[in-house]
Amino acid sequence: MAREPIISGSGEEKPPPSHTGAGGGFGNLPPLNPGSGEVFGNPEEPDKHLEEELRPKRLSEVVGQRKVIERLQIILNAAKKRKEPLGHLLLDGPPGLGKTTFAMVLPNEMGVDSQVTSGPALTAPKDILVYLTNATYGSILFIDEIHRLPKTVEEFIYPVMEDFRVDIALGEGVNARTINLKLKPFTIIGATTRSGMLSAPLRDRFVNREHLDFYDVLELTEIVTRNARKLKTKIAPEAAHEIAIRSRGTPRKSNNLLRWTRDFADSEANGEITLEVAKLACEKREIDCLGLDHQDRRYLKTLWNVFAGGPAGLQAIGHSMNVPPDTLEDEVEPFLLRLGFVQRTPRGRTITPAALEHLKLMGDTGPLAGHLF
Ligand SMILES: Nc1ncnc2c1ncn2[C@@H]1O[C@H](COP(=O)(O)OP(=O)(O)OP(=O)(O)O)[C@@H](O)[C@H]1O
Ligand SMILES: [Mg+2]
Repeated sequence: MAREPIISGSGEEKPPPSHTGAGGGFGNLPPLNPGSGEVFGNPEEPDKHLEEELRPKRLSEVVGQRKVIERLQIILNAAKKRKEPLGHLLLDGPPGLGKTTFAMVLPNEMGVDSQVTSGPALTAPKDILVYLTNATYGSILFIDEIHRLPKTVEEFIYPVMEDFRVDIALGEGVNARTINLKLKPFTIIGATTRSGMLSAPLRDRFVNREHLDFYDVLELTEIVTRNARKLKTKIAPEAAHEIAIRSRGTPRKSNNLLRWTRDFADSEANGEITLEVAKLACEKREIDCLGLDHQDRRYLKTLWNVFAGGPAGLQAIGHSMNVPPDTLEDEVEPFLLRLGFVQRTPRGRTITPAALEHLKLMGDTGPLAGHLF
């Protein structure tokens, strides 16, 4: 799963990048100077810069999610009119649907600075302190994977989110004292693929909450067409549509598939993405007509062949596939559930006749095929 660069405070390094947008909501705010920040690339993500290249910078470039955009526009307008910070915002939804994109677009729209960090990078309250003290009035602190914040950090930011103050304990024993530090009002944007894992007190401190849902084929076609233009690649409208169909409702998948198809077109054809080239490229990548990839079909085949169609627990399926159950729950199941290929029952996951039909169509059913339903 793609993750944002993590900037974690450690005391000596350069400041994290600050994005100062052109929206002008607060006029010219001074640049951030946190005096810390260490950038870790995600080793699983060598193509990180490629993702940035295609990421929309302004709300007007964001495709789909109309209702979310309308609501965000309202809180943006109100905050700009009152010259106040945005209310804290929690974005949740499956990977690749635009949580980071929205979190990056909002500071640009407000014309404020932003800092980026991530739940796993904040192991102790001291790690987040530098971001809090460097937050300028109205600026945005984006905390990715906020469900992975340790409990101590979570409790530390409760008073921050409510009253913009931190209580810092200094010294030990009889010399111990607490410093009460006042912070400048700012906005926390949290992103999570697992809003259910957030504690209720943390969730409730976000005054705004938006859930991002899968995109329809027309929206993804629009994203593919726009991004092909950005990549200076010629693509036939039917080919853009075909890529969209096979993108599992997810813009990140569209972008990846577009890049792969472009490589395929350059290597195996004359560089132009026609419908035929797009279909051949998807076949080569083992992405079927519904957008299911090797991992999705393996999940369905395991459920069918090993567990006789279920019900089977997520842990058991994960162990059989040798894939972490979290990965299955975050990246594989949401789309299969949406297709109606899997049901989540209290006793475990079960496969549906529609999934079997699809597997049969793909020549993928195993020895138990036909025993159920
Ligand atoms: N609404 C959108 N319009 C256009 N492009 C989009 C949109 N949403 C996402 N994208 C594209 O998809 C890519 C991935 O989106 P993003 O990184 O925002 O997903 P995410 O929800 O943060 O995923 P994760 O949970 O894995 O961090 C972006 O770089 C961007 O190019
Ligand atoms: Mg993200």
